[in-house]
Amino acid sequence: MPTTQLPSPCTAQEVQLLRDGYWDRTAIVAIDDGSKRVRKISKGAKSAGPWGQDNLRAEANYLATLEAELRDCFPPLLDTWDHATTGYDMGYMDGYIDVGQTARQQLFNQTQADVMQSYLGQRLFQQLHTPSTATPLLVENIKNTLHKTQVCLQEHPQLSCLLDQIQINDIPVESLQEQLAYIYKSPILARFDASPQVRLHGDLFLENMLLPSADSGPDWPRQLILIDPISVAGIGAGHPLFDLGKYESYATGELPAMRQQRLLIEGFEDVKIESNSKGNSNHYRWAIDWQDEAMQGFKNINWHSRMRELYTQYYGPVDTAMYELLQAYFAAAMVVCTQGREQQARALKMRASLQLALDS
Ligand SMILES: Nc1ncnc2c1ncn2[C@@H]1O[C@H](COP(=O)(O)OP(=O)(O)O)[C@@H](O)[C@H]1O
Ligand SMILES: [Mg+2]
Repeated sequence: MPTTQLPSPCTAQEVQLLRDGYWDRTAIVAIDDGSKRVRKISKGAKSAGPWGQDNLRAEANYLATLEAELRDCFPPLLDTWDHATTGYDMGYMDGYIDVGQTARQQLFNQTQADVMQSYLGQRLFQQLHTPSTATPLLVENIKNTLHKTQVCLQEHPQLSCLLDQIQINDIPVESLQEQLAYIYKSPILARFDASPQVRLHGDLFLENMLLPSADSGPDWPRQLILIDPISVAGIGAGHPLFDLGKYESYATGELPAMRQQRLLIEGFEDVKIESNSKGNSNHYRWAIDWQDEAMQGFKNINWHSRMRELYTQYYGPVDTAMYELLQAYFAAAMVVCTQGREQQARALKMRASLQLALDS
């Protein structure tokens, strides 16, 4: 055992800030020997409550306990610490960009995007999704999140109109109160606790994956590196559909469209008189604006169907009710921390997905 260890984290100069998140900060740093690494460090309990620190601790532990056969799926873990601050250092993937950018910049043709999905599906379902005995957290989390979102909508002057019976994209939607009552007494929630419970990635969307930015030959789509495991709600184990649902919510273009507001939304106009005269004042519509230039990467290349095929090969057909409830949960979690048109779209998505969960 070495007796004189360098203090963790070692002294480093910040070279480039990658993400100033709510709970943590991710940056490229240079250490004394001149090499670069990526440092992810909690902002501490003071700024954002204890969850951020717990999450980062869980994230570091996740990386530290990966089996040897999975280490090439993630950047190498160089250091972890947990005293005045919590954090970890990992290898800097120089020349890599996140796969959201690969998609937006249309760097891959369809074959390459399919190879990427096949590779991801294989590593994920075969190797990462090992059986887990961790306490299931998801059901409690879904309930809490839906409840918080209900309160948020009740208190929101522009969105409380979505609480009643409405129509979304021509589909009749029960009041939120009724939807939640049905969900809570239906068997859907219990199915999340049934087997298989597996280790998840937990935050599996294209921006948490890296690929070389330049063509590196036939193996390019398989040089995929996963980062940032464990969801913001601390979920790192559970039903495998969680990872597929998260993946698809982004890879279909829906999440990028919502975040960048490449959306067509109707029904929130201040003056309802015109629509009243047509008798549809409770009628809302939303869609991705597929004409928008920023959406072409997701329109021209299908980034999701191959993953779905692989999922069904491993786990059988997708349980639609569970799937829609997950989509409602992801949307609900974001209703409380967004605003404007993104928030409108998230709220409509949540209400429509809850209805699909009930009707399927
Ligand atoms: N090891 C790494 N090498 C290169 N870039 C990285 C690395 N880790 C993270 N990044 C970049 O930083 C961004 C934020 O990192 P991430 O771990 O996803 O933080 P957050 O939890 O804030 O989402 C990523 O989307 C990616 O672009
Ligand atoms: Mg991330």
